[in-house]
Amino acid sequence: MSEDVLILGIESSCDETAAAVVRNGREVLSNVISSQIDLHTLFGGVVPEIASRKHIEKINQVIDQALADACVTLDDITAVAVTYGPGLVGALLVGVAQAKAIAWAKDLPLVGVHHIEGHVCANFIEHQELEPPFLCLIVSGGHTHLVIMKDYGEFEILGRTRDDAAGEAFDKVARAVGLGYPGGPKIDRAAREGNPHAIEFPRAHIEGAPYDFSFSGLKSAVLNYLNHAKMRGEEVSVPDLAASFQNAVVDALVSRAVMAAKEFGYRQIVLAGGVASNTALRRGLEEACRKENLAFCFPSPVYCTDNAAMIGAAGYYEYQKGVRSGWELNAVPNLKLGERAF
Ligand code: KG4
Ligand code: ZN
Repeated sequence: MSEDVLILGIESSCDETAAAVVRNGREVLSNVISSQIDLHTLFGGVVPEIASRKHIEKINQVIDQALADACVTLDDITAVAVTYGPGLVGALLVGVAQAKAIAWAKDLPLVGVHHIEGHVCANFIEHQELEPPFLCLIVSGGHTHLVIMKDYGEFEILGRTRDDAAGEAFDKVARAVGLGYPGGPKIDRAAREGNPHAIEFPRAHIEGAPYDFSFSGLKSAVLNYLNHAKMRGEEVSVPDLAASFQNAVVDALVSRAVMAAKEFGYRQIVLAGGVASNTALRRGLEEACRKENLAFCFPSPVYCTDNAAMIGAAGYYEYQKGVRSGWELNAVPNLKLGERAF
C-alpha cells in the first residue's frame, strides 16, 4: 500500500475558483484555476456578490477537473484542505461548504488552511530543498508582511503594512491612470517602457517600526501628480508614472527584506503572493540578494497568484502535524497569520 498523502486543495477566497491535487506537500498532480477576471474587469474591481455566485457555478467543475487531471478519484484522496480565511466571506464560504460536503460524504479528514500560509507554501512546490526556518516577504492584494516562517504553520511577523497592501496600491494606481483591473500586471507591463527615475515619489519610513510598510502616502502622491498635471493641462506619460511608482514600491520592499535578512541572520529571502510575479520586484530582489550574497527563492507566476496547489501544500503540513477541522469550520474573513480559528 502506498504511503503517499494526497491532498485535495480548494481555494475560493477572492476571484479565482481553484482546486488541485498535491502529493506529499510538494508534488502537484493537478492545478485547475477558473479565473473571474473578465467578469470583474467590467466593474473595475472584484464585486463580492458576483464572485460568490461564480464560485458556486464553477466549484464542482473545477474539482472534477482537478481529480481527472491528476488521474485519481475521491477514493484516492487522503484529506481535503480548504482556504477558510482571510478573504471575502461569501467567496470563502463556497469553498468551505464544498470541502465539508466532500469530507463528510467520503469520510475524509478536513483541514482549514490560512490563505497567506498557502502563498508562502507555494515555494515548496518548486524548491524541494526549502525548509523552515526562513525569511519570507509576502506581497499580495490584501497583505504585505515580512515574516519568519519558524516551522511549518508557525510565523513570527517582523513587519506589515500600516495601510494599503502592495497589490492594493498597484490596483488603485492602475485605476487612477486608466489602466483598469487587475492593476498589478498592467502597471508591470506599462513600466517596461518607462523610466523608473522620471518622477521622484516618496518612500515612507515608520518611526520605531523599521520593518513596517506604508503605501497610502505613495498612492496619494501619484494621485496628486495626476491632478496637478491635469490642472496644468500637461500630458502624463503612463509608462514613466508606472515605472516610477513601481520603483518606489520595489525599493520599500527590497530594502526592508534585505535589512531583516542581515539583522536576523538569514542567508536567503523567500518571496510569495500575487505581487511576487512582478518583474521589477523579482529583478530588484535578485540584484540585492546577489550583492549581499543571499539566496533568493520565488514561485513561478502560476503559483504566485491565487491557486489551490499552494493550499494543498500548506494543507499537507498541517495534516502531518495532526491539525483537523471539525464540521463547525467557518469562513473567517479577517483571519490573522499564525492564528487558527477552529
Ligand atoms: O495573492 P493574490 O493573487 O491575491 C490575494 O491574496 O490578494 O494577489 C493579487 C494581487 C493583485 O493586487 C494584483 O494586482 C497583484 O497581486 N499582481 C501584481 C502582478 N500580478 C498580480 N502586482 C504587480 N505586478 C504583477 N505582475
Ligand atoms: Zn492570494
